[in-house]
Amino acid sequence: MKDFKAVVIGELFPSPLEKLEESCDVRVWKERTPIPTDTLHEWLEDADGLISRGDVSVDEELVSAFPHLQVIAQSSVGYDNVDVQACTKKGIPFGNTPDVLVEATADLAFGLVLTSARKLHDGWDYVRNGQWNTSFDIPLGTDLYGKTLGIVGMGNIGRSVAKRAQASGMNIIYHNRKPSPKADDVGADYVAFDELLQDSDFIVVLVPLTSESKGLFGAEAFKKMKSTAHFINASRGPVVHTDDLYDALVNEDIAHAALDVTDPEPIRKDHPLTNLSNVIITPHIGSATYETRNSMSQLTVDNLLAGLQGKRLPACVNA
Ligand code: DGY
Repeated sequence: MKDFKAVVIGELFPSPLEKLEESCDVRVWKERTPIPTDTLHEWLEDADGLISRGDVSVDEELVSAFPHLQVIAQSSVGYDNVDVQACTKKGIPFGNTPDVLVEATADLAFGLVLTSARKLHDGWDYVRNGQWNTSFDIPLGTDLYGKTLGIVGMGNIGRSVAKRAQASGMNIIYHNRKPSPKADDVGADYVAFDELLQDSDFIVVLVPLTSESKGLFGAEAFKKMKSTAHFINASRGPVVHTDDLYDALVNEDIAHAALDVTDPEPIRKDHPLTNLSNVIITPHIGSATYETRNSMSQLTVDNLLAGLQGKRLPACVNA
C-alpha cells in the first residue's frame, strides 16, 4: 500500500513514472484519444493527485467533485484547459512545465519559418517525384536575411525565436499587451498590433489561448498583412479563425502558412486546409524531442509529488 493515489492522463517517460510509482498507486490513461468522462470520474474518486492533459477539461465542476484531490499537474506550458481560479478557490495548486520546453519550441517555431521561406517540403516532394534530373523548375524560396519577423507574444519562447532570427540577419518587431523586458537584448522593437501585421514578412504567433487571444487572427488581420507574408502559428489553434485563414491562403491575401497547431486539433486528413499547396501543418510537436519531453515528464512528477507532500511546487501557476 503506497502513500497516495495518482491518476495520469497521457504517457510519462519511464524514469519519472518509476519515481511517481515509488510513493503512489498510479492509474495511467495511455490512449491518445480523450479519456471518457465516466472513467475519469471513477478513477478520480479516491485520487490524491491528477496529471492532466490538454484534452481534459479541468473545470470548476471537476475540481470541486473530488474531495481527495490535493494537486494537479500538467506536462505543458499552456493550460487553457484548466480553470486555475477554480483550483485556487479549492486550495489546489496547479503546476505546469514552463522553462524546460523553451528551446525545443523555439527551434520548431523557427524551423517553420525556415521551412516556409525555403519550401523544404516542396524540395523533398521534387526529389521524391523524380523531378531533380528532369526539370529546372526548382522550388524557389525567399531570403530571411534583411526581412522583418513579427512576433506576437514575446515571452521566453518568443525571446528564443528572436535570438535565432537575429542570427539569420532578420529585423525583429513584436507585439504584446505591453512592452516586455524579455525583448530588451534581442534587438526586437515593440510595435502596435496593426503595425506588426502591415510590416512583417514573417509572423510568428506564440500567445497563450485566452478570451482575448481567441480568434485574434481572422479575415481582418489577414487582409492587413502583406500578400507576400508567411504566417506561422506555434501557439494554440483557436487563436486563428481557420476558415478565414483558408480564405486568405486561397485568395492569396498572404503567401504561405506553417502551422504546428490547428482548430480543430487533430485536423482531419481531408480538411480543406490540408489540400492547399501554400500551407504545411505539423502535428503539435513544439516540445516533442526526447530530451524536452523527458524533462517535462520529470518536472510534472516533481510538481505532483511536491503537492502531495504539502510542499511548494517547483513550477506552480497559482502559487
Ligand atoms: C505546451 O506546452 O503548451 C505545448 O503546446 C504542448 O501542449
